Amino acid sequence: MTDISKQDRVLIFDTTLRDGEQSPGATMTHDEKLEIASMLDEMGVDIIEAGFPIASEGDFEAVRDIAKQSQNAVICGLSRANFKDIDRCWEAVKHAARPRIHTFIGTSPLHRDIPKLSKDAMADLIHETVSHARNLCDNVQWSPMDATRTEHDYLCRVVEIAIRAGATTINIPDTVGYTAPRESADLIRMLIEKVPGAGDVVFSTHCHNDLGMATANSLAAVEAGARQIECTINGLGERAGNTALEEVVMALKVRNDIMPFRTGVDTTRIMNVSRRVATVSGFPVQYNKAIVGKNAFAHESGIHQDGMLKNAETFEIMRPEDIGLSETNLVMGKHSGRAALRAKLNDLGYDLGDNQLKDVFVRFKALADRKKEVYDDDLIALMHDSSSDE
Ligand code: KIV
Ligand code: ZN
Repeated sequence: MTDISKQDRVLIFDTTLRDGEQSPGATMTHDEKLEIASMLDEMGVDIIEAGFPIASEGDFEAVRDIAKQSQNAVICGLSRANFKDIDRCWEAVKHAARPRIHTFIGTSPLHRDIPKLSKDAMADLIHETVSHARNLCDNVQWSPMDATRTEHDYLCRVVEIAIRAGATTINIPDTVGYTAPRESADLIRMLIEKVPGAGDVVFSTHCHNDLGMATANSLAAVEAGARQIECTINGLGERAGNTALEEVVMALKVRNDIMPFRTGVDTTRIMNVSRRVATVSGFPVQYNKAIVGKNAFAHESGIHQDGMLKNAETFEIMRPEDIGLSETNLVMGKHSGRAALRAKLNDLGYDLGDNQLKDVFVRFKALADRKKEVYDDDLIALMHDSSSDE
Protein backbone atom coordinates (compact mmCIF):
# COMPACT_ATOMS: atom_id res chain seq x y z
CA MET A 1 0.00 0.00 0.00
CA THR A 2 1.28 3.52 -0.77
CA ASP A 3 2.27 5.90 2.01
CA ILE A 4 -1.09 7.44 3.00
CA SER A 5 0.43 10.89 3.65
CA LYS A 6 1.36 11.02 -0.04
CA GLN A 7 -2.11 10.14 -1.25
CA ASP A 8 -4.38 12.73 -2.84
CA ARG A 9 -6.51 14.52 -0.28
CA VAL A 10 -10.27 14.48 -0.81
CA LEU A 11 -11.95 17.48 0.78
CA ILE A 12 -15.03 16.74 2.85
CA PHE A 13 -17.71 19.41 2.41
CA ASP A 14 -20.46 18.94 4.97
CA THR A 15 -23.88 20.33 4.12
CA THR A 16 -25.88 18.90 7.04
CA LEU A 17 -26.79 22.42 8.13
CA ARG A 18 -27.92 23.49 4.64
CA ASP A 19 -29.07 20.63 2.39
CA GLY A 20 -29.62 18.36 5.41
CA GLU A 21 -31.73 20.92 7.17
CA GLN A 22 -33.81 21.36 4.00
CA SER A 23 -35.23 17.92 4.74
CA PRO A 24 -38.89 18.52 5.69
CA GLY A 25 -39.16 18.51 9.48
CA ALA A 26 -35.41 18.57 10.17
CA THR A 27 -35.26 22.19 11.29
CA MET A 28 -32.65 22.88 13.96
CA THR A 29 -32.48 25.77 16.42
CA HIS A 30 -29.75 28.40 16.30
CA ASP A 31 -27.88 26.88 19.24
CA GLU A 32 -28.17 23.38 17.86
CA LYS A 33 -26.67 24.53 14.55
CA LEU A 34 -23.76 26.16 16.33
CA GLU A 35 -23.19 23.02 18.37
CA ILE A 36 -23.23 20.74 15.28
CA ALA A 37 -20.93 23.14 13.40
CA SER A 38 -18.40 23.05 16.20
CA MET A 39 -18.53 19.23 16.32
CA LEU A 40 -17.94 19.11 12.54
CA ASP A 41 -15.07 21.57 12.86
CA GLU A 42 -13.42 19.51 15.60
CA MET A 43 -13.95 16.35 13.59
CA GLY A 44 -11.81 17.70 10.74
CA VAL A 45 -14.43 18.44 8.08
CA ASP A 46 -12.80 20.78 5.53
CA ILE A 47 -15.78 22.92 4.54
CA ILE A 48 -19.03 23.48 6.43
CA GLU A 49 -21.98 24.76 4.43
CA ALA A 50 -23.69 26.53 7.29
CA GLY A 51 -26.92 27.60 5.59
CA PHE A 52 -28.66 29.72 3.00
CA PRO A 53 -28.35 33.28 4.37
CA ILE A 54 -31.05 34.90 2.18
CA ALA A 55 -33.61 32.23 3.16
CA SER A 56 -34.50 33.79 6.52
CA GLU A 57 -33.17 36.03 9.26
CA GLY A 58 -32.57 32.91 11.35
CA ASP A 59 -30.49 31.28 8.62
CA PHE A 60 -28.47 34.46 8.17
CA GLU A 61 -27.71 34.68 11.89
CA ALA A 62 -26.77 31.01 12.10
CA VAL A 63 -24.32 31.29 9.18
CA ARG A 64 -22.85 34.52 10.60
CA ASP A 65 -22.38 33.06 14.09
CA ILE A 66 -20.92 29.80 12.77
CA ALA A 67 -18.51 31.90 10.68
CA LYS A 68 -17.48 33.79 13.83
CA GLN A 69 -16.89 30.66 15.92
CA SER A 70 -15.17 28.50 13.27
CA GLN A 71 -11.62 27.47 14.12
CA ASN A 72 -10.39 25.41 11.18
CA ALA A 73 -13.02 24.71 8.55
CA VAL A 74 -13.89 26.94 5.61
CA ILE A 75 -17.38 28.34 6.24
CA CYS A 76 -19.64 28.47 3.24
CA GLY A 77 -23.08 29.92 2.56
CA LEU A 78 -25.40 29.22 -0.36
CA SER A 79 -26.82 31.83 -2.72
CA ARG A 80 -28.85 31.79 -5.92
CA ALA A 81 -27.59 33.48 -9.06
CA ASN A 82 -28.42 37.08 -8.19
CA PHE A 83 -26.48 39.90 -6.58
CA LYS A 84 -28.88 40.30 -3.63
CA ASP A 85 -28.44 36.64 -2.57
CA ILE A 86 -24.69 36.77 -3.06
CA ASP A 87 -24.30 40.00 -1.08
CA ARG A 88 -26.37 38.60 1.77
CA CYS A 89 -24.31 35.44 1.75
CA TRP A 90 -21.08 37.44 1.90
CA GLU A 91 -22.41 39.53 4.83
CA ALA A 92 -22.83 36.28 6.76
CA VAL A 93 -19.70 34.33 5.81
CA LYS A 94 -17.25 37.24 5.78
CA HIS A 95 -16.73 36.83 9.56
CA ALA A 96 -15.02 33.48 9.05
CA ALA A 97 -11.24 33.14 8.97
CA ARG A 98 -11.78 31.22 5.72
CA PRO A 99 -15.07 32.20 4.03
CA ARG A 100 -16.56 30.73 0.85
CA ILE A 101 -19.50 31.88 -1.29
CA HIS A 102 -21.39 29.09 -3.04
CA THR A 103 -23.65 30.20 -5.86
CA PHE A 104 -25.77 28.02 -8.11
CA ILE A 105 -28.29 27.95 -10.93
CA GLY A 106 -30.28 25.12 -12.52
CA THR A 107 -28.74 24.41 -15.94
CA SER A 108 -30.75 21.44 -17.23
CA PRO A 109 -33.52 22.08 -19.80
CA LEU A 110 -36.17 21.61 -17.11
CA HIS A 111 -34.54 24.15 -14.84
CA ARG A 112 -33.73 26.65 -17.59
CA ASP A 113 -37.39 26.62 -18.47
CA ILE A 114 -38.51 27.91 -15.06
CA PRO A 115 -36.96 31.41 -15.32
CA LYS A 116 -37.49 31.12 -19.12
CA LEU A 117 -33.83 31.86 -19.76
CA SER A 118 -32.23 31.06 -23.10
CA LYS A 119 -28.91 29.22 -23.01
CA ASP A 120 -27.07 32.45 -23.88
CA ALA A 121 -28.91 34.54 -21.31
CA MET A 122 -28.13 31.97 -18.61
CA ALA A 123 -24.47 31.86 -19.65
CA ASP A 124 -24.28 35.69 -19.28
CA LEU A 125 -25.95 35.52 -15.89
CA ILE A 126 -23.47 32.89 -14.71
CA HIS A 127 -20.59 35.09 -15.79
CA GLU A 128 -21.99 38.16 -14.03
CA THR A 129 -22.89 36.44 -10.77
CA VAL A 130 -19.71 34.40 -10.37
CA SER A 131 -17.63 37.51 -11.16
CA HIS A 132 -19.59 39.45 -8.57
CA ALA A 133 -19.03 36.74 -5.94
CA ARG A 134 -15.34 36.62 -6.79
CA ASN A 135 -15.04 40.38 -6.30
CA LEU A 136 -16.23 39.86 -2.75
CA CYS A 137 -14.42 36.66 -1.81
CA ASP A 138 -11.44 34.78 -3.20
CA ASN A 139 -13.02 31.40 -2.49
CA VAL A 140 -16.05 30.88 -4.75
CA GLN A 141 -17.88 27.66 -5.50
CA TRP A 142 -20.26 27.40 -8.41
CA SER A 143 -22.84 24.66 -9.02
CA PRO A 144 -24.88 23.91 -12.14
CA MET A 145 -27.93 22.43 -10.39
CA ASP A 146 -29.23 19.25 -12.05
CA ALA A 147 -25.88 18.89 -13.81
CA THR A 148 -26.44 15.20 -14.44
CA ARG A 149 -29.47 16.03 -16.62
CA THR A 150 -27.81 18.95 -18.42
CA GLU A 151 -26.69 18.57 -22.06
CA HIS A 152 -22.95 17.82 -22.03
CA ASP A 153 -21.96 20.54 -24.47
CA TYR A 154 -23.89 23.16 -22.49
CA LEU A 155 -22.47 21.88 -19.20
CA CYS A 156 -18.92 22.22 -20.57
CA ARG A 157 -19.71 25.70 -21.80
CA VAL A 158 -21.11 27.00 -18.49
CA VAL A 159 -18.40 25.33 -16.39
CA GLU A 160 -15.81 27.09 -18.54
CA ILE A 161 -17.60 30.41 -18.07
CA ALA A 162 -17.72 29.94 -14.29
CA ILE A 163 -14.00 29.13 -14.21
CA ARG A 164 -13.16 32.19 -16.32
CA ALA A 165 -15.30 34.34 -14.02
CA GLY A 166 -13.22 33.23 -11.04
CA ALA A 167 -14.86 30.13 -9.50
CA THR A 168 -12.32 28.12 -7.53
CA THR A 169 -14.47 25.03 -6.98
CA ILE A 170 -16.87 23.54 -9.53
CA ASN A 171 -19.47 21.37 -7.87
CA ILE A 172 -21.42 18.90 -10.00
CA PRO A 173 -24.79 18.14 -8.40
CA ASP A 174 -26.83 15.05 -9.08
CA THR A 175 -29.78 16.99 -7.73
CA VAL A 176 -32.41 14.27 -8.12
CA GLY A 177 -30.23 11.21 -7.49
CA TYR A 178 -30.55 10.15 -11.11
CA THR A 179 -27.03 9.17 -12.09
CA ALA A 180 -25.22 5.83 -11.68
CA PRO A 181 -21.56 5.21 -10.78
CA ARG A 182 -20.14 4.80 -14.29
CA GLU A 183 -21.99 7.85 -15.58
CA SER A 184 -20.96 9.89 -12.53
CA ALA A 185 -17.30 9.07 -13.22
CA ASP A 186 -17.62 9.72 -16.97
CA LEU A 187 -19.14 13.14 -16.38
CA ILE A 188 -16.32 14.31 -14.11
CA ARG A 189 -13.70 12.84 -16.44
CA MET A 190 -15.26 14.55 -19.45
CA LEU A 191 -15.33 17.95 -17.71
CA ILE A 192 -11.71 17.64 -16.58
CA GLU A 193 -10.58 16.61 -20.05
CA LYS A 194 -12.64 19.02 -22.13
CA VAL A 195 -13.07 22.26 -20.21
CA PRO A 196 -10.23 24.79 -20.60
CA GLY A 197 -8.96 25.84 -17.18
CA ALA A 198 -10.30 22.68 -15.48
CA GLY A 199 -6.86 22.01 -14.02
CA ASP A 200 -7.02 25.26 -12.03
CA VAL A 201 -10.10 24.38 -9.99
CA VAL A 202 -11.26 21.66 -7.62
CA PHE A 203 -14.05 19.48 -8.97
CA SER A 204 -16.65 18.47 -6.44
CA THR A 205 -19.43 15.89 -6.38
CA HIS A 206 -22.84 16.43 -4.74
CA CYS A 207 -25.11 13.41 -4.86
CA HIS A 208 -28.63 12.66 -3.71
CA ASN A 209 -29.74 9.18 -2.78
CA ASP A 210 -33.03 8.72 -4.62
CA LEU A 211 -31.87 5.43 -6.14
CA GLY A 212 -29.66 4.48 -3.20
CA MET A 213 -26.47 5.19 -5.17
CA ALA A 214 -25.25 8.46 -3.63
CA THR A 215 -22.21 6.94 -1.92
CA ALA A 216 -21.23 4.85 -4.95
CA ASN A 217 -21.70 7.83 -7.27
CA SER A 218 -19.59 10.10 -5.07
CA LEU A 219 -16.74 7.58 -4.86
CA ALA A 220 -16.87 6.98 -8.61
CA ALA A 221 -16.57 10.74 -9.14
CA VAL A 222 -13.50 10.82 -6.89
CA GLU A 223 -11.87 8.01 -8.85
CA ALA A 224 -12.45 10.08 -11.99
CA GLY A 225 -10.79 13.19 -10.55
CA ALA A 226 -13.21 14.96 -8.18
CA ARG A 227 -11.40 16.06 -5.03
CA GLN A 228 -14.31 17.29 -2.93
CA ILE A 229 -17.29 15.26 -1.74
CA GLU A 230 -20.42 17.04 -0.54
CA CYS A 231 -22.24 15.04 2.10
CA THR A 232 -24.28 15.13 5.28
CA ILE A 233 -24.17 13.31 8.60
CA ASN A 234 -26.47 10.27 8.54
CA GLY A 235 -27.23 11.09 4.89
CA LEU A 236 -29.76 13.67 6.11
CA GLY A 237 -31.33 15.59 3.22
CA GLU A 238 -34.34 16.15 1.05
CA ARG A 239 -36.32 13.11 -0.14
CA ALA A 240 -33.99 10.07 0.20
CA GLY A 241 -31.19 12.31 1.46
CA ASN A 242 -27.64 13.17 0.45
CA THR A 243 -24.42 11.18 0.36
CA ALA A 244 -23.70 10.10 3.94
CA LEU A 245 -20.44 11.54 5.27
CA GLU A 246 -19.74 8.51 7.44
CA GLU A 247 -20.11 6.17 4.46
CA VAL A 248 -17.71 7.92 2.08
CA VAL A 249 -15.15 8.64 4.79
CA MET A 250 -15.14 5.06 6.08
CA ALA A 251 -15.17 3.60 2.56
CA LEU A 252 -12.03 5.60 1.74
CA LYS A 253 -10.43 4.44 4.98
CA VAL A 254 -11.41 0.76 4.87
CA ARG A 255 -10.82 0.29 1.13
CA ASN A 256 -7.81 2.55 0.87
CA ASP A 257 -6.11 -0.35 -0.93
CA ILE A 258 -8.31 0.20 -3.99
CA MET A 259 -9.29 3.87 -3.42
CA PRO A 260 -6.02 5.48 -2.34
CA PHE A 261 -7.29 8.86 -1.15
CA ARG A 262 -7.18 10.39 2.30
CA THR A 263 -9.54 12.71 4.17
CA GLY A 264 -8.86 14.89 7.20
CA VAL A 265 -11.74 13.45 9.23
CA ASP A 266 -11.11 12.03 12.69
CA THR A 267 -13.36 9.00 12.27
CA THR A 268 -13.48 8.25 15.99
CA ARG A 269 -15.85 11.21 16.33
CA ILE A 270 -18.37 9.89 13.80
CA MET A 271 -20.71 8.12 16.21
CA ASN A 272 -21.02 11.09 18.55
CA VAL A 273 -21.83 13.51 15.75
CA SER A 274 -24.26 11.03 14.20
CA ARG A 275 -26.18 10.65 17.47
CA ARG A 276 -26.28 14.39 18.06
CA VAL A 277 -27.54 15.12 14.52
CA ALA A 278 -30.22 12.43 14.91
CA THR A 279 -31.38 13.99 18.16
CA VAL A 280 -31.44 17.63 17.09
CA SER A 281 -32.92 16.97 13.65
CA GLY A 282 -35.51 14.54 15.01
CA PHE A 283 -34.54 12.06 12.27
CA PRO A 284 -33.65 8.72 13.87
CA VAL A 285 -31.02 6.60 12.15
CA GLN A 286 -32.37 3.38 10.65
CA TYR A 287 -31.18 0.29 12.55
CA ASN A 288 -29.33 -1.21 9.60
CA LYS A 289 -27.81 2.05 8.33
CA ALA A 290 -24.21 1.53 7.19
CA ILE A 291 -21.59 2.60 9.75
CA VAL A 292 -23.84 4.36 12.30
CA GLY A 293 -26.97 2.18 12.51
CA LYS A 294 -27.70 0.45 15.83
CA ASN A 295 -27.06 -2.92 14.17
CA ALA A 296 -23.98 -1.94 12.15
CA PHE A 297 -21.73 -3.60 14.76
CA ALA A 298 -24.27 -5.98 16.28
CA HIS A 299 -24.32 -9.75 15.80
CA GLU A 300 -27.02 -12.17 16.83
CA SER A 301 -26.52 -15.40 14.93
CA GLY A 302 -24.61 -18.15 16.69
CA ILE A 303 -22.12 -18.68 13.86
CA HIS A 304 -21.34 -14.98 13.65
CA GLN A 305 -21.07 -14.54 17.41
CA ASP A 306 -18.80 -17.56 17.70
CA GLY A 307 -16.59 -16.24 14.89
CA MET A 308 -16.51 -12.77 16.44
CA LEU A 309 -15.45 -14.15 19.80
CA LYS A 310 -12.54 -15.96 18.15
CA ASN A 311 -11.50 -13.24 15.68
CA ALA A 312 -13.46 -10.03 15.12
CA GLU A 313 -12.27 -9.81 11.52
CA THR A 314 -14.43 -12.82 10.61
CA PHE A 315 -17.55 -10.70 10.43
CA GLU A 316 -16.40 -7.08 10.81
CA ILE A 317 -14.48 -5.08 8.21
CA MET A 318 -13.81 -2.17 10.53
CA ARG A 319 -13.30 -1.85 14.24
CA PRO A 320 -16.08 -0.24 16.31
CA GLU A 321 -13.42 1.97 17.94
CA ASP A 322 -12.66 3.46 14.50
CA ILE A 323 -16.00 5.28 14.57
CA GLY A 324 -15.97 5.95 18.30
CA LEU A 325 -17.93 2.95 19.58
CA SER A 326 -16.42 1.16 22.53
CA GLU A 327 -17.16 -2.39 21.43
CA THR A 328 -19.03 -4.77 19.17
CA ASN A 329 -22.50 -5.60 20.40
CA LEU A 330 -23.30 -9.29 20.67
CA VAL A 331 -27.09 -9.20 20.74
CA MET A 332 -28.56 -12.14 22.60
CA GLY A 333 -31.51 -13.67 20.81
CA LYS A 334 -32.84 -16.97 19.53
CA HIS A 335 -30.02 -17.24 16.97
CA SER A 336 -27.27 -16.94 19.58
CA GLY A 337 -25.12 -19.92 20.48
CA ARG A 338 -23.59 -21.33 23.64
CA ALA A 339 -20.22 -19.58 23.20
CA ALA A 340 -21.85 -16.14 23.07
CA LEU A 341 -24.01 -16.93 26.09
CA ARG A 342 -20.98 -18.00 28.07
CA ALA A 343 -19.08 -14.83 27.06
CA LYS A 344 -22.04 -12.61 27.91
CA LEU A 345 -22.55 -14.27 31.30
CA ASN A 346 -18.83 -13.91 31.99
CA ASP A 347 -19.14 -10.18 31.28
CA LEU A 348 -22.00 -10.06 33.76
CA GLY A 349 -19.86 -11.76 36.40
CA TYR A 350 -21.06 -15.40 36.14
CA ASP A 351 -18.51 -18.14 35.59
CA LEU A 352 -20.46 -21.30 34.78
CA GLY A 353 -19.37 -24.90 34.58
CA ASP A 354 -20.39 -26.88 31.51
CA ASN A 355 -23.43 -28.53 33.13
CA GLN A 356 -24.74 -25.30 34.54
CA LEU A 357 -24.25 -23.59 31.19
CA LYS A 358 -26.18 -26.41 29.48
CA ASP A 359 -29.13 -25.86 31.79
CA VAL A 360 -29.09 -22.07 31.47
CA PHE A 361 -28.76 -22.36 27.70
CA VAL A 362 -32.02 -24.37 27.50
CA ARG A 363 -33.85 -21.75 29.56
CA PHE A 364 -32.25 -18.95 27.56
CA LYS A 365 -33.45 -20.47 24.24
CA ALA A 366 -36.98 -20.82 25.63
CA LEU A 367 -36.93 -17.18 26.69
CA ALA A 368 -35.43 -16.06 23.36
CA ASP A 369 -38.28 -17.78 21.54
CA ARG A 370 -40.74 -15.60 23.44
CA LYS A 371 -38.73 -12.38 23.33
CA LYS A 372 -37.11 -10.67 20.31
CA GLU A 373 -34.02 -9.61 22.21
CA VAL A 374 -32.73 -10.91 25.52
CA TYR A 375 -31.24 -8.08 27.55
CA ASP A 376 -28.61 -8.24 30.29
CA ASP A 377 -31.35 -7.89 32.94
CA ASP A 378 -33.19 -10.90 31.48
CA LEU A 379 -30.03 -12.97 31.74
CA ILE A 380 -29.46 -11.87 35.33
CA ALA A 381 -33.07 -12.86 36.14
CA LEU A 382 -32.46 -16.21 34.46
CA MET A 383 -29.39 -16.77 36.59
CA HIS A 384 -31.33 -15.92 39.74
CA ASP A 385 -34.08 -18.38 38.76
CA SER A 386 -31.54 -21.15 38.19
CA SER A 387 -29.83 -20.54 41.55
CA SER A 388 -33.19 -20.54 43.41
CA ASP A 389 -34.08 -23.87 41.70
CA GLU A 390 -30.97 -25.53 43.13
O1 KIV B 1 -28.85 19.25 -5.01
C1 KIV B 1 -28.47 20.34 -5.44
O2 KIV B 1 -28.45 20.59 -6.66
C2 KIV B 1 -28.07 21.35 -4.49
C3 KIV B 1 -27.40 22.56 -5.05
C4 KIV B 1 -27.94 23.79 -4.48
C5 KIV B 1 -25.92 22.44 -4.89
O3 KIV B 1 -28.19 21.15 -3.30
ZN1 ZN C 1 -28.52 18.97 -2.91
